[in-house]
Amino acid sequence: MNKLYITGGKPLQGTVSISGAKNAVLPIIAAALMTAEPVVLEETPDLIDVNVMTQVIESLGASVVRQGSRLQIEARDLESIEAPHELVTQMRASIVIMGALLARKGRVRISHPGGCAIGSRPINWHLKGLEALGAEVRMDHGFLDVSAAQGLKGTRIYLDFPSVGATENIMMAAAMAEGTTVIENAAQEPEIVDLANFLNEMGGKVRGAGTSVIHLEGVKELHGTTHTVIPDRIEAGSFLLMAAATGGDVLVQNVISDHLKPLLAKMLEAGVMVEEEGDAIRVRGDGLYQGVDVKTQVHPGFSTDLQAPFLAMLSRAQGTSMVTETIFENRFMHVDELKRMGADIKIEGRTAIIKGVPALTAAPVTATDLRAGAALILAALTAEGTSEISGIHHIYRGYESIEEKLRGLGVVIRSN
Ligand code: UD1
Repeated sequence: MNKLYITGGKPLQGTVSISGAKNAVLPIIAAALMTAEPVVLEETPDLIDVNVMTQVIESLGASVVRQGSRLQIEARDLESIEAPHELVTQMRASIVIMGALLARKGRVRISHPGGCAIGSRPINWHLKGLEALGAEVRMDHGFLDVSAAQGLKGTRIYLDFPSVGATENIMMAAAMAEGTTVIENAAQEPEIVDLANFLNEMGGKVRGAGTSVIHLEGVKELHGTTHTVIPDRIEAGSFLLMAAATGGDVLVQNVISDHLKPLLAKMLEAGVMVEEEGDAIRVRGDGLYQGVDVKTQVHPGFSTDLQAPFLAMLSRAQGTSMVTETIFENRFMHVDELKRMGADIKIEGRTAIIKGVPALTAAPVTATDLRAGAALILAALTAEGTSEISGIHHIYRGYESIEEKLRGLGVVIRSN
């Protein structure tokens, strides 16, 4: 598929169900390498990124069978410790296999992931943490060779920044290290809690996930388990924003509203009606909102992954809004595309200053990354006329069945 065509101007109506969380399942698939016994993952979204991760573990010798949203993984014998270059370069998140393979095999070779569209994204904190556990890191022809010939030993690690990926890699390595590891200034995202729950279900001893201090007592072996992946809070947030921006009335099902608190607070501040109903959230509005200021932060702050669609909604809000991005250095690429649709936005350093306009107009635009894609879909849904969105492979990396789900809410959408 190359392009999405969306005819906007119609409020979203109906019910949509949220899939399992991409950012939770990726490290969990890696962690499934840490046991020789079978692992079953329920609610696994069918996404490009998930398929890349399953190919990575298959290339190492694991077997993976998908039946609908159930993934069965068995890593009985791992014949390789080297993640193929062409897969790692397709998806940066594949670096979370470092901690898992170190724990299981004591060594991992992985192509250095390099940068990506939203910033240089170094992995220095991942490596520093693994080194603190006793691993030796070498660079060898573009590959990182990380080994722990003497085994990994628990220790106290203070992260310079609560990096999600670094916390995950260190947790996996430490789960099977000798002795106790304490990660201070750890990431507190819900996906970290899901990984900790998965490790504990496999017989790991992890406490404190979801707070800034995580304790791990190393165990010698982990066993198989069945785990249900948490719902995707970013997909849920994207649908809430799309519904609100179009002045719709939508029930978003299969959500953990606690994970969405920062977004819901900002939506209420802007004047959107949001009601929590058990494991669903109903959103209603007239599409006419007040501008608000927002700054992205690590969890429980406002998620950087929802910055782009939120900014797109603010492009039609009354007054001036300021959106400050503190997590990634280059995450405003959707702004130029939104301007092509008539938005009035100026970037000053890490802040976007948005002067609300009454309406956006349909235009041909290009998604440069996953969440930029969500922002453009949102803008297209509100604009009069038919917008043509290119670069949609980015969108399929993170939004399962997006076309079908939008069609179910009454959207006129097609792809070619
Ligand atoms: C994860 C999410 C991503 C989300 C991000 C922040 C996955 C697959 N991706 O990405 O959707 O936007 O968390 O919530 O879960 N950094 C360093 N050195 C490091 C590690 C990170 O400088 O060793 C920097 C990064 O460049 C970035 C910031 O720290 O500027 C945050 O990165 P991190 O929390 O690690 O995000 P990811 O795990 O890459």
